[in-house]
Amino acid sequence: MAKLGLNVDHIATVRQARGGIQPDPVTAAALGELAGAEGITIHLREDRRHIQDRDLEILRRTVKSKLNLEMAATQEMVRIALKVKPEQVTLVPEKRQELTTEGGLDVILNAKLITDTVKRLRDGGIVVSLFVDPNQEQIKAANKTGADCIEIHTGAYAEAGDWNSQERELEAIDTGIKLARKVGLGVNAGHGLNYVNIKALAALGGIEEYNIGHSIIARAMLVGLDRAVKDMVELIKYA
Ligand code: PXP
Repeated sequence: MAKLGLNVDHIATVRQARGGIQPDPVTAAALGELAGAEGITIHLREDRRHIQDRDLEILRRTVKSKLNLEMAATQEMVRIALKVKPEQVTLVPEKRQELTTEGGLDVILNAKLITDTVKRLRDGGIVVSLFVDPNQEQIKAANKTGADCIEIHTGAYAEAGDWNSQERELEAIDTGIKLARKVGLGVNAGHGLNYVNIKALAALGGIEEYNIGHSIIARAMLVGLDRAVKDMVELIKYA
């Protein structure tokens, strides 16, 4: 059965907007686990725009399912990962100016850096996943690094403007899943997945873990708004 890894980065985005202590991604992670998420994913970015080092340290102690740390293959991040020891690290490309992760790793171009990073993390007992586009050459290169699994970047599928291009992207993902499984890599998927596009993707089969953040946090805000407003109205009326 495929698992959901809940990405709580955007709980921290809302917190950082005010620089305070709420909403707390640690509380969100606990609620997510109670609701059935079988993993918690966070991206500790170089610029610390949402998740902070302290969140990672506390989540390491409180997550009961599986902690998946998304990070760039830098010396600083490897040092942090080896100290905190999440169950899994997903290596992602990172650009300072981007709004969110914009594409998969170029494993072919950065083979040496990624292979060395995979080895250091695996020697530290951490499962390593590589975030790659559904591109056969990149998946073959990912396999050569010694990584345990890949996370297929589903951004192009999620952003496809019409059914034909969506079909094309689905086919590329399906081919990628089959190739990865054939060479013995585990297969995760993520980026831009929502309550509409998850259905056709999940129907392909072969994906073990979906890492989903923005759409779930966005929906939580809307489905939770009715209750939150009612609670405040009550306090004002009956003070
Ligand atoms: N997987 C990876 C590697 C990511 O970088 C992200 C975004 O942080 C996600 C999954 C989650 O994407 P989204 O927030 O669009 O669901």
